[in-house]
Amino acid sequence: MPESALLADLNPTQREAVAATDGPVLVVAGAGSGKTRVLTYRIAHLVRDLGVSPYEILAITFTNKAAGEMKERVEQLIGGVARGMWVSTFHSACVRILRQEIHRLGYRTSFSIYDDADSTRLITMCIKDLDLDPKRFPPRQMKAAISKAKNELIDYETFASQDSGFYHENVSDIFRLYQQRLVEASAVDFDDILNLTVEILQVFPEVLERWQNRFQYVLVDEYQDTNRAQYMLVKMLAAEHGNICVVGDSDQSIYAFRGADMRNIMEFEKDYPDTRVVLLEQNYRSTQTILDAANAVIANNTSRRPKRLWTDEGAGESVVVFEAEDEHEEAAYVAEEIARLQDIGIALDDVAVFYRTNAQSRVIEELFVRFGVTYQVVGGLKYYDRKEIKDALAYLRVIVNPDDQVAIKRIINTPRRAIGDTTVAHVDRFAEAEEITFMDALRRVREI
Ligand SMILES: Nc1ncnc2c1ncn2[C@@H]1O[C@H](COP(=O)(O)OP(=O)(O)O)[C@@H](O)[C@H]1O
Ligand SMILES: [Mg+2]
Repeated sequence: MPESALLADLNPTQREAVAATDGPVLVVAGAGSGKTRVLTYRIAHLVRDLGVSPYEILAITFTNKAAGEMKERVEQLIGGVARGMWVSTFHSACVRILRQEIHRLGYRTSFSIYDDADSTRLITMCIKDLDLDPKRFPPRQMKAAISKAKNELIDYETFASQDSGFYHENVSDIFRLYQQRLVEASAVDFDDILNLTVEILQVFPEVLERWQNRFQYVLVDEYQDTNRAQYMLVKMLAAEHGNICVVGDSDQSIYAFRGADMRNIMEFEKDYPDTRVVLLEQNYRSTQTILDAANAVIANNTSRRPKRLWTDEGAGESVVVFEAEDEHEEAAYVAEEIARLQDIGIALDDVAVFYRTNAQSRVIEELFVRFGVTYQVVGGLKYYDRKEIKDALAYLRVIVNPDDQVAIKRIINTPRRAIGDTTVAHVDRFAEAEEITFMDALRRVREI
């Protein structure tokens, strides 16, 4: 192994995880112990010290933000060669693969991507077309049921066969029609992005082989949050060379409601028998007091790997628990505490307030406004979720994919041009009678 200046920035266990480049590696570690740092340095080590082409590396993170940060950190270590590298979320990586491969399943290369709001809209249309009562079959609930099935790689046929009775049969019908409409519209929902990629790799061995050869090294951050499809994808891509490195923390699994399956990390060693397991226990973010409190809480979890975080940052201040009578007293305490911290010279930048649900921020924000505390709410409505942005995107989607019904219907009367629901319903009926798409029906609008 060549001596590397890179390895000097790491503690001994981190170094072990970075240097073990070949074969399966499982890095299990708590928060703030340098898991992401290990992945970043591992990429840099592969490229700079071992001469691996960045083109051959696939690094997966959980959010686009994390991908951007990791890419930046890698660039700082090895420079611009990192630019063409695939550091992305599962979804972004799969979209890139699908743009090249999806035609094999009969979709347009310029397929549309439906976000949650788009797919709920399409489901609403399906419920209407099936003459079902949306009160009995609420679209959002149907969307959740379909998504749950898809997360486990269950298609509508399997879904239909899993249960019987009036209710289940109707939900199955909604699922079937929804999937059919997606295909007709050359559209995929978020779950399809993963599932169709898995399907293509399963059905076309030559495609699988090409992508396996392309990515000689596969790295996954936050592996505890992977779902069934993501698990399959990683497994297939790494099946030939076995150069797979996953990092995660069974204590931080927070996406069970989205199909994240902790078994993926708990059983990694079973899937890859010659796995090297590296445990990172030194924490760089918190004081020992905070770690002890966290350790004490987490020790009660049932499904986990035992580990104890420690730090050489010292004990630090004690944890304070304040039990308030109601949300107003709670907010007042938070605001006063922040004023106190400011008085002793702590910058507002260094203060964070967490709450469990978004609704809880209101009372706190009101007090901040009254006290003149400047603040920023993180995770409000995202740019791409804003109405005008979605409208503009819908226009672009229709241009590249005229089959995209949901996008057409979104903008057909935006800005207002006196095309109401009745007109749209007429076009729908004509399209159905003539067995043509909604767009083709619009083109023949004079005949309606
Ligand atoms: N060996 C180390 N020396 C100095 N700082 C480190 C070391 N390992 C991690 N850190 C720092 O600790 C913080 C947490 O690291 P990160 O990789 O984000 O942890 P995790 O992904 O496990 O939560 C980062 O600021 C990182 O730079
Ligand atoms: Mg991390």
